[in-house]
Amino acid sequence: CGIVGYVGSQTASDRPLDVVLEGLRRLEYRGYDSAGVALVGPDGELDTAKKAGKLANLVEELDAHPLAEATAAIGHTRWATHGGPTDVNAHPHVSGRLALIHNGIVENFATLKAELLAEGVEFESETDTEVAAHLVSRAYDRTGDLTKAVTEVARTLHGTFTLLAVHADAPDVVVGARHDSPLVVGLGEGENFLGSDVAAFIAHTREALELGQDQVVTITPTAVTVTDFDGKPADARRYTVDWDAAAAEKGGFPSFMDKEIHDQPHAVADTLLGRTDAHGRLVLDEIRIDESVLRSVDKIVVIACGTAAYAGHVAKYAIEHWCRIPVEVELAHEFRYRDPVVNEQTLVVAVSQSGETMDTLMAVRHAREQGAKVLAIVNTHGSTIPRESDAVLYTHAGPEIAVASTKAFLAQITAAYLLGLYLAQLRGNKFADEVTAILDELRAMPDKIQQVIDRSGRVREIARWMADTQSVLFLGRHVGFPVAMEGALKLKELAYIHAEGFAAGELKHGPIALIEPGQPVFVVVPSPRGRDSLHSKVVSNIQEIRARGARTLVIAEDGDEAVRPYADEVFYVPQAPTLLAPLLAVVPLQVFACELATAKGLDVDQPRNLAKSVTVE
Ligand code: G6P
Repeated sequence: CGIVGYVGSQTASDRPLDVVLEGLRRLEYRGYDSAGVALVGPDGELDTAKKAGKLANLVEELDAHPLAEATAAIGHTRWATHGGPTDVNAHPHVSGRLALIHNGIVENFATLKAELLAEGVEFESETDTEVAAHLVSRAYDRTGDLTKAVTEVARTLHGTFTLLAVHADAPDVVVGARHDSPLVVGLGEGENFLGSDVAAFIAHTREALELGQDQVVTITPTAVTVTDFDGKPADARRYTVDWDAAAAEKGGFPSFMDKEIHDQPHAVADTLLGRTDAHGRLVLDEIRIDESVLRSVDKIVVIACGTAAYAGHVAKYAIEHWCRIPVEVELAHEFRYRDPVVNEQTLVVAVSQSGETMDTLMAVRHAREQGAKVLAIVNTHGSTIPRESDAVLYTHAGPEIAVASTKAFLAQITAAYLLGLYLAQLRGNKFADEVTAILDELRAMPDKIQQVIDRSGRVREIARWMADTQSVLFLGRHVGFPVAMEGALKLKELAYIHAEGFAAGELKHGPIALIEPGQPVFVVVPSPRGRDSLHSKVVSNIQEIRARGARTLVIAEDGDEAVRPYADEVFYVPQAPTLLAPLLAVVPLQVFACELATAKGLDVDQPRNLAKSVTVE
């Protein structure tokens, strides 16, 4: 869910309500099945509006029934957990003169609700949030202090939560609390902000405070106070956000996804920037893990979810090859619950665009409890996973708004290459001398990615023709295998089409039974200049499926004529070293999914049922 809080007195053209709606618009990627706001006016009146569906429905409602002017406001855009996406279940939830919004899950809500029901409290919704609203309201009635009331209740809730509350008696106060769920503070002049992430207030300020776990924050127009759950003053780190509001705008593209696909050369270039010294050696100062520890690492485990996990698969091929350290890749939610073998010699690499994915965060905590060092590869500053890791290597993809990840994926792969090369350099193995040369190859990739984007006209055309397709298969081998899986994921996420990625070598062990006349199959072909006989094996796979009637859509390197006779379509990409090729091969697949979904009339930025940042387990 997305959360915004505001206190201050913006001018009539930008009223507190507008500030909150603007924040919600920028946070809508975090959840979009309902939205709501609560406003407290200078004379102590509380007003709320909430609507199922996208933010536009709420805005329509507010146009039809305008709310009074306000000094404090909170807003919420929801991704339903408890209770379906209805008007009543939408946040804020009101209890007496208090309104409250929540992100996360209150795990002990049934017990708390039973107690409240026994005391005669009436509930309107099916949500766990309403329990928190009643509890804070009652605590306020007792204490007359909103901060104290929120702190008291935060101590009694189990699960994960960010809460924001406003009370009609306190027209210029918003109180927030967080436990295992994101919340950042935006610092203004005569106004202050709260948000799930900095996008909430980036149009107004780039000065921010990063809160720690289990903290309560109270904002007024002129002050920000942070305490722990015992009410004791607590520290919060101040930082300046390094991207501006324009970076989070569509900039003339029809969708954020389209724009973010086009941002990819920059995302890769920026992730490489400033990470070498005058001699071309890699300098990754931010990896603040003792060099002796990194030298003695005997296993790397990459933990991540979704697209980030596929970046992890690419990392495995590269790091094992360059460093000769075994690398396992595991979905974070599986890792956490299967008693994995990790210890002081293990380096756990947590990959996450948002830095907030709860499954990944829990896996990070588990790994550290077992004594492993955790290095985070994350895109979002001020997020939780870097804070709880031993070190962080930031990707510099800039804000990614479309729910389906594109530029963050390329930046994650790039950061993983940097990590692999850094470890090779540090451990002085056989690739140590080649680091500079490989880095040169890597620096040539942004231009090549641009070429792939420039050539994407044909793949767009094919995607539009294929708008009615029911199923698409993707084959790849070696690093092409995670590319195939990512291509399939993009199509599922965006176009709601059945799609599956397979290892090409596995074809004959089962998936080939799926091939029937007309079945479209994308095949990611390795470079003919690459290792062993991989290229010819994949070309044979194309022949095998073609012979059974498949429509073959082939991604191959410039100059690869061998694929032509068996391909219904070839999408050529520039030549690149095998390990770096995923940065190119995945681009036509992203474009394909985006274009096909658009042709079906779907919202590519906000696909159904998904959310960009999944902050529940
Ligand atoms: C969600 C998103 C995916 C994303 C995954 C991991 O499922 O819909 O697009 O890949 O989370 O997100 P993270 O922020 O940890 O990279």
